[in-house]
Amino acid sequence: MRYGDGSIKNNLVIQTMLEHRSIRKYTDQTPSDELVKTIVRAGQQAPFASQYYTVLLSKNRKRNPFGAPLLFTICVDSHKFELIMARRGWRLATNDLILLFFGIQDAAYMSENMVIAARSLGLGSCFLGSAMFRADKIAEEYHLPQRVFPLVQLAMGYPAEEPSPRPRYPMEFTLFEDKYPELSAKMVSIAMKQMDDGYLAQDYYRKAKCMISLEGDRKETFTYDNYSWTEHISRKWGQWHPEPKELLKQLEKRGFNLTSKKQND
Ligand SMILES: Cc1cc2nc3c(=O)[nH]c(=O)nc-3n(C[C@H](O)[C@H](O)[C@H](O)COP(=O)(O)O)c2cc1C
Repeated sequence: MRYGDGSIKNNLVIQTMLEHRSIRKYTDQTPSDELVKTIVRAGQQAPFASQYYTVLLSKNRKRNPFGAPLLFTICVDSHKFELIMARRGWRLATNDLILLFFGIQDAAYMSENMVIAARSLGLGSCFLGSAMFRADKIAEEYHLPQRVFPLVQLAMGYPAEEPSPRPRYPMEFTLFEDKYPELSAKMVSIAMKQMDDGYLAQDYYRKAKCMISLEGDRKETFTYDNYSWTEHISRKWGQWHPEPKELLKQLEKRGFNLTSKKQND
């Protein structure tokens, strides 16, 4: 493949990215160490503000979510940077919020590069957002020094499923040239419909058995025939976020199993 010849149709990179889908079932095959290193190396080559991250790896298939052969924990890491600065006789003075924002970006670009590299090599993966709620447990398990924060986890292995790619918003709802438009009710409805129809066509929430229950005195009016993505994320973010421990309990109740093979978002 040559870069820069303007050909979109046969572009393997674009094709790999457009074929992305999260994988939650894995075969028994363990990816080789060479493969693992190649994927992490490709991740490292992402643009960075300060390489403000560390990647932890667990090959404990019995404990990894989805029974995945690989589980990466991507951390925002201030510790390494502080050691480097100390050797130069400096101490961190910038405020933590700025470091956190840049650190999250460094870690995110790095881990998405890993996702794409893995896919291009025939592996599948799935992010797990629960890491930040279990930061204390993960810190203990991996002996994390102070100021290393587990941001997100990435399960990875050879796919034992090939689900259809999930829908995304229409381009008109995503890319705005020159100015942010006034979003009409029609534009919002079209975007919602594209997402909802896409999820309903895959019968996603029924298969995953993960309808979020309503809090307070709201009455349930949805069934799996019409419960779809926009209702799901409205319930997810429209109800008061409980304390992490309570949230974990609720997630477990809703069928998320945060410590073993079965997980769903
Ligand atoms: C930060 C983050 C956290 C996620 N957490 C979970 C999770 O806890 N469980 C899960 O099954 N999927 C999780 N996902 C995967 C998303 O559900 C998935 O990427 C999204 O639904 C789009 O589907 P696709 O990746 O198949 O295109 C997460 C993704 C991201 C980026």
